[in-house]
Amino acid sequence: MFEGNLIRTRILIIGSNGMLGQRLTEFLKNRRNSYELLCASLEPSSFIPDVDYRQIDITRKNKVRELILDFFPDFVINASGYTNVDKAESERELAWKINVNGVENISLYTWTVDAHLIHISTDYIFDGKKGPYTETDKPCPISYYGRTKLAAENSIRTSGVRYTILRTNVLYGPVKFGKLDFVRWVINSIKSEQQIKIVTDQYNNPTFIDDLVNAIHKIILYKKEGIYNIGGSEILSRYDFSIRIADFFGLEKKFISPVLTKELKQPAQRPLKSGLIILKAMTELDFKPHSIEDSFKLIKDELNL
Ligand SMILES: NC(=O)c1ccc[n+]([C@@H]2O[C@H](COP(=O)([O-])OP(=O)(O)OC[C@H]3O[C@@H](n4cnc5c(N)ncnc54)[C@H](OP(=O)(O)O)[C@@H]3O)[C@@H](O)[C@H]2O)c1
Repeated sequence: MFEGNLIRTRILIIGSNGMLGQRLTEFLKNRRNSYELLCASLEPSSFIPDVDYRQIDITRKNKVRELILDFFPDFVINASGYTNVDKAESERELAWKINVNGVENISLYTWTVDAHLIHISTDYIFDGKKGPYTETDKPCPISYYGRTKLAAENSIRTSGVRYTILRTNVLYGPVKFGKLDFVRWVINSIKSEQQIKIVTDQYNNPTFIDDLVNAIHKIILYKKEGIYNIGGSEILSRYDFSIRIADFFGLEKKFISPVLTKELKQPAQRPLKSGLIILKAMTELDFKPHSIEDSFKLIKDELNL
């Protein structure tokens, strides 16, 4: 074996401790023969063991410069972000600093080393009046979070960097550390006999995180640029999704109460008729999302639920 002589693709994951970041780290870590990986996130250490890790705050321009220029990656994957949609309404400055200025820092130095930036965006750039959306539909965000994510997309598109923007929605998967995804929040709430109110009028196609990880891998392999929608195989209401969770995991449905979005009085407005049409990714990336139940089975097996 001449493993030591192989030229491996150098990949920097920023936000490696987040929900997506963790699964991406695990995936690429298992392909060490092909990829030289550097992980970076806000916390002092990596949640995923046995990886090279650097602490980074993406709002600190000089630190981002050092991180990227020291490693000289071929690809930078930005899985970091300010992701609390409701809090973004009251913490506007911080949300902008992270989601827009932080992304500007990343694109600048990714461009400097002539690497390819893969950035994750959201269906919240749309108003939810006539979804599901294609990649060419006109954005019109109705929340501050959505505005920051659209501004980030626009800054990348005008920065000159080689880029791929993956728009996704409602991530769920077998995440082991940190905050709970929607699926596990529903499971844990019902198991602890807590009544949960779930909206019947918000539609989208929830995305199994491992499908998104596969799509990112295809982008790396095929070096595809531009904007791609990455979502699940079915568009359904959040209420119907939680019923499917309860059915699959054998949980009592009486703890799930249907509610309208306007009754929840959340600080941030949500797009109602949303979701992402994934035809482009299916055609150009050979993207094949798991069915909802197949993804639940994988989560169940991996987390021993
Ligand atoms: N989750 C969804 O349903 C969803 C849907 C559509 C799009 N997206 C997008 O997908 C991406 C990944 O989402 P996710 O759910 O995996 O997010 P997440 O779990 O909230 O992870 C984001 C990561 O970024 C880190 N971070 C925050 N501020 C930072 C900073 N200044 N410098 C460096 N790192 C920082 C966070 O650290 P802390 O946890 O310590 O703050 C966290 O580890 C985001 O861009 C998000 O907008 C997510």
